[in-house]
Amino acid sequence: MNDVFLKACRGEKVPYTPVWIMRQAGRYLKQYQKIRKKVDFLTLCKTPELAAEVTIQPIDALGVDAAILFSDILIPVEAMGLKVRFLEKKGPVLSPPVRSESHVKKLLIPKPENDLHFVLDAIKVLRKELHNRVPLIGFSGAPLTTATYMIEGGSSKNFLQTKKMIFQTPDLFSALMDKVTATITEYLKAQIKAGAQTVQLFDTWAGIFSPVDYRAYVLPYVKRVIKDIKNWQKLNKTGHIPIIYFVGACCGLLEEIKMCGADVLGVDWRINIEDAIKRIGNRYSVQGNLDPCTLFMPKDKIKDRVKSVLKNASSARGHIFNLGHGVLPETPVENVVSMVEMVHSYSQAHRIL
Ligand code: CP3
Repeated sequence: MNDVFLKACRGEKVPYTPVWIMRQAGRYLKQYQKIRKKVDFLTLCKTPELAAEVTIQPIDALGVDAAILFSDILIPVEAMGLKVRFLEKKGPVLSPPVRSESHVKKLLIPKPENDLHFVLDAIKVLRKELHNRVPLIGFSGAPLTTATYMIEGGSSKNFLQTKKMIFQTPDLFSALMDKVTATITEYLKAQIKAGAQTVQLFDTWAGIFSPVDYRAYVLPYVKRVIKDIKNWQKLNKTGHIPIIYFVGACCGLLEEIKMCGADVLGVDWRINIEDAIKRIGNRYSVQGNLDPCTLFMPKDKIKDRVKSVLKNASSARGHIFNLGHGVLPETPVENVVSMVEMVHSYSQAHRIL
């Protein structure tokens, strides 16, 4: 079993730096496009055998050290009762947007075993098909990022509706966040029960807040999810399933983020990872943080950037190499393959452990 990734999550000694890539299954891979020509995105997410197939594609193509379940952070939102569509070029559209007390009251807290069984089935298929080749990461959106899609009705530039709800009707926001948080907690527990060996919370949009608002309106819900899962793990003797918390544009918030209680913090590229590690301290492993656009550089330049991330992260308790956000659809696959090789060979040769 390749458990280098799990060891790095726990801060244990590793022979080389493990690497995986956020959004590693997707449109930059021809193999993925071939399947997507035949089925739409939601059908792909809801067909366990196909979801498992595209999850394994980047393991074969890139040689990464972890698989991440193919799904989307909006899948549980559909089960809460919103209509979710993915439109070409426009991205996700959720309707109607959640803006009123009566709508929040109507939202369901899904029972994953019934309402999201296809996700759990995909995890079970994957654990069989992976044969312990690499560990499987389950995931969910973090409460705030999930709620922004519900409130805005899709992607957003300035998150005005979300901030208006927080600043004008804080009780409505907390009622919504309570339901979203309960949904995510149950969803992640069910993923762990089905076989996920790590879970990642994606808080892509939490970086839109000032530290004081992050602390008041984002952090308490993340802490609740993590604490609840950790307590449940102890009670159910599941063993230690590491929790990764990724925040996009995290650099103004690291002192707050490090209160979350996860095992690993994901760091975006807008900060030198060495500075991030100094501020986070050694209670967490770190994951990141190459700028995804670096992969459009010539290979020798990519190598320099890979080396500097590895060197700068050498003081961490544990380091998982990753991009600072998802890989872009236009990315040349051969550059991703080289990046993975470089991480492995350089970190092994230089014993950056
Ligand atoms: O990482 C992986 O390989 C696993 C699969 C995965 C997807 N989405 C598949 C996907 C994961 C982990 C996600 C998370 C996700 N989804 C996030 C958080 C991470 C991040 O990138 O910030 C967010 C914000 C979403 C919401 C979402 N889903 C958007 C905004 C879009 C449209 C933009 C885009 O990238 O196309 C999606 C669609 C989506 N999710 C696709 C894939 C492969 C593209 C669908 C297609 O095939 O057309």
